[in-house]
Amino acid sequence: MAIVPDVAAKLSGLGIDVVVQSGAGGDARFPDRAYEEAGATVAPDAAGALVGAAVVARVQPPSLEEVAQLPEGVSVVSFLQPVASPDVVAALAAKQATVYSLDLLPRISRAQSMDALSSQATVGGYRAGLAAAEHLAKFFPMFMTAAGTVPPAKVLVMGAGVAGLQAIATARRLGAVVRAYDVRTAAKEEVQSLGAHFVDLGLEAQDGAGGYAKEQSAETLARQQQLLAAEVAGADVVITTAQIPGRKAPVLVTEAMVEGMADGAVIVDMAADSGGNCELSVSGEDVVVHGVTVVGLTNPPASMPTHASFLYARNIANFLALVVKDGALAPDFDDEIVAGTCVVRAGTVVHGPTAEALGLPAPATRASEVHTDESEGAAS
Ligand code: NAI
Repeated sequence: MAIVPDVAAKLSGLGIDVVVQSGAGGDARFPDRAYEEAGATVAPDAAGALVGAAVVARVQPPSLEEVAQLPEGVSVVSFLQPVASPDVVAALAAKQATVYSLDLLPRISRAQSMDALSSQATVGGYRAGLAAAEHLAKFFPMFMTAAGTVPPAKVLVMGAGVAGLQAIATARRLGAVVRAYDVRTAAKEEVQSLGAHFVDLGLEAQDGAGGYAKEQSAETLARQQQLLAAEVAGADVVITTAQIPGRKAPVLVTEAMVEGMADGAVIVDMAADSGGNCELSVSGEDVVVHGVTVVGLTNPPASMPTHASFLYARNIANFLALVVKDGALAPDFDDEIVAGTCVVRAGTVVHGPTAEALGLPAPATRASEVHTDESEGAAS
């Protein structure tokens, strides 16, 4: 859910009238009544909620049918992954919409409070830690009992970004002994600060732009797999989170490596939706191969909707606070965050990779240079 009740109250304070579709917060356990108590209006259906709307805040991109219902010239904020959904972007552009995609948010300090990718990765990492504990037929913590001593579970986390660090923290809280690996230099200190052991393969670091990892060559990846085989074989649980923005996820765990694991071991693949870090992952399914359970985790925030929405709504509100002044939309397209996030400005596609996916010429202009006669309406 893009807006939760206490955030609706906060937005009212910014001069924004919040209208919520009836039942929209139900899955996240926010009833209509809570929105009304927070000063929002509850409309009976989507069409009613959209009447007069200047801004539409969503989690997922709209479908083509939903775009057709939007008012002309509306502003839309959501996770759009625009390169993957060019038809939706084209339809939004035809509506003269202005579209902001939070997955494009620049990763600078000032943008951290709006960083929805990070907030949802936090939820995902936590869920991955829990899923691993649930599927393992062993305890995570060490137990010293009168009947005997149970050793702690051995967990290996591959990819120590936002999600990986949360998976490490969750497994540690449950008492597991955790080892972790990443290709970025900064990851070592972060892993160690959580009380986990950093696995150093002695390979060259792969630091890319904006704090992300860069894609590795096939040779480096093959060498990495070879060196990681012993680590994987020694783990009760492997949690993988490795992603390369805009690319298929790297394969870190091959079938041969799975075969080398003990019977009953568990792999939780957080990259299952983007191709999988494990060769055997099936997105959204638990499969058992060579006695190992491979969990293809899909959209983990959906399984923790209250707090996933709590965080996402705050990201949305902080973004809106940047583009709304005195209750009216007043985005500054010279602002790095506004420009970096904007995919379409008043019908013009201003995001290069999306324009390319649409077969349009590369945008000659930046968002700040688009000439519009848009009268920025009151936000609602
Ligand atoms: P991500 O979701 O794109 O990737 C997850 C992790 O997988 C990354 O740590 C990446 O280095 C790792 N990885 C990629 N290929 C790998 C391979 N072959 N083997 C092992 N690991 C591999 O990354 P995420 O979590 O979104 O962010 C990565 C980093 O971005 C953060 O740790 C931080 O340094 C930076 N960041 C900065 C922010 C800011 O300043 N506002 C906000 C959030 C993140």
